[in-house]
Amino acid sequence: MSLLAELEPLKQSALAEFAAAADLPALEHIKGAYLGATGKFTGLMKQLGSLPKEEKPTAGKAINAVKVELETALAARREELELKAALPKEPTDWSLSGRRRAVGRLHPLTQVTDDIVKAFRKVGFAVADGPEIEDEYHCFDALNTPADHPARDAQDTFYLAQPDSQSPIANRLLRTHTSSVQIRVMKSQPPPVRIIVPGRVYRRDNADATHNPTFQQIEGLYVDKGVTVGDLKGTVEFVFKELLGDDVKIRFRPHYFSYTEPSYEIDFASALTRKMGKDWLEIAGCGMVHPQVFENVGYDPEIWTGWAFGFGIERIAMIRYCMNDIRLFYENDVRFLKQF
Ligand code: DAH
Repeated sequence: MSLLAELEPLKQSALAEFAAAADLPALEHIKGAYLGATGKFTGLMKQLGSLPKEEKPTAGKAINAVKVELETALAARREELELKAALPKEPTDWSLSGRRRAVGRLHPLTQVTDDIVKAFRKVGFAVADGPEIEDEYHCFDALNTPADHPARDAQDTFYLAQPDSQSPIANRLLRTHTSSVQIRVMKSQPPPVRIIVPGRVYRRDNADATHNPTFQQIEGLYVDKGVTVGDLKGTVEFVFKELLGDDVKIRFRPHYFSYTEPSYEIDFASALTRKMGKDWLEIAGCGMVHPQVFENVGYDPEIWTGWAFGFGIERIAMIRYCMNDIRLFYENDVRFLKQF
């Protein structure tokens, strides 16, 4: 058989063997069998010298082209097998506990937020997000908060300078609560909805031991057919027991929010509140979503019912860790942070 006739079958069998190599040592072995000093392909190259002079250039070109092709295929297969070797042999179980990070730790507020999110995930809530720079519509109007409501006062809310009078977004502000995300989520999807929204909010409070101009909230929203206050109370109780212990008791007190009717404040009691010298501590606002809010987002209030709540993460963290000064969370004093 002529040299050129042998070339193609040899190439095909080399490519097939490269592809079938199970691991890197096997691939190196196959490489040797074709391209090594005594390899089959090397043997072909050696025959080149004995060809008649006029056949040499064509045959030489053909052999070189195949050599390049084999080396490229070899490099690609090597890369695939290296990647395969680097992957874990068994699937990783991310739920395993007990892994500690080598350096640093999570901020206590991040830890508490993670725990709250975990508890809500257990009962089917997904995390949603929204912008911190909001407008009056999402923060107030759509939530049924009238234009003369004190929360809208420039003394309580940080308004942004208007970029120009042509801007389609009037009265931009830093969101005063995560409730604005309720509106954004409901406007972007049909019911049912089951979300929580952890996030930063801003108010024109002067910093003192229990207030800070920026803090974190978690909003919750559940919309479906036939949702009741009983579901709300049961869910809140479950989550707070997960977070703060089995002895937690929950109490609802009537309250007023423009976006819920009826509305409540949530108090809780436990060994932790007694440690702080209190029988009950107020921790959240909540209620059944106001029909007007459903109208505003295009949900039919005759078909859908829902509840919502919002609470401050710092407050829960302060109870959990028996703290009395909120500013400790933001000072980044390592002596404080190292304790968590
Ligand atoms: N947005 C309220 C606040 O910042 C908390 C709140 C109360 C949220 C009642 C709600 C709710 O979703 O239904 O104080």
